[in-house]
Amino acid sequence: MRTHVVDHPLVTHKLTYLRDETTDSPTFRRLADELVTLLAYEATREIRVSPKEINTPVAPTTGVKLARPKPLVVPILRAGLGMLDGLMRLLPTAEVGFLGMIRNEETLEASTYAERLPDDLSGRQCYVLDPMLATGGTLAAAIRFLVDRGADDITAICLLAAPEGCDRLEQELSDIDIPITVVTAAMDEKLNDKGYIVPGLGDAGDRLYGVAD
Ligand code: URA
Repeated sequence: MRTHVVDHPLVTHKLTYLRDETTDSPTFRRLADELVTLLAYEATREIRVSPKEINTPVAPTTGVKLARPKPLVVPILRAGLGMLDGLMRLLPTAEVGFLGMIRNEETLEASTYAERLPDDLSGRQCYVLDPMLATGGTLAAAIRFLVDRGADDITAICLLAAPEGCDRLEQELSDIDIPITVVTAAMDEKLNDKGYIVPGLGDAGDRLYGVAD
């Protein structure tokens, strides 16, 4: 597994305001959206393309177009939805599937409660959107779900990551022999005893959409 922390002053600037507890929900949503677009630029560095012949007004030349099958974007519900528009801005022709994963707050284990994905993901590059790579349980389960359906290249885009989550992904996915990449705006210090990232930004779903009990 490859982890890429995007080290760019604009990313850190937006992340700082995102972390700030005084940032309200509308501003949080806008900043998350902008931050994802910046992360997506790095995350799509290895996106597959095929040659495309065109004529400029001056001469014929060969460029590239996105290869088929189309990349699949998979936001993990609910907080991953807040990252979808930011990614689709760069990849408007990608397909979108949905995966609902919930974390048991006591055991911290993840389980699937909803999915809308193609049955066959053979040969698909997948971009998984999950804002917080905390314990790693949700993301590990989501990645395995996609690999079991045939996905052969997975990039997870996370606003923030914790070392514990990255270690768990490394361990739990060590048997998987396809490229797996995590792209994040920062590798934070640690998890607290409730499984929150420290310093983090709090509950990403609540900050995006409010508390839904
Ligand atoms: N999920 C969140 O929303 N925040 C954290 O810090 C950890 C998991």
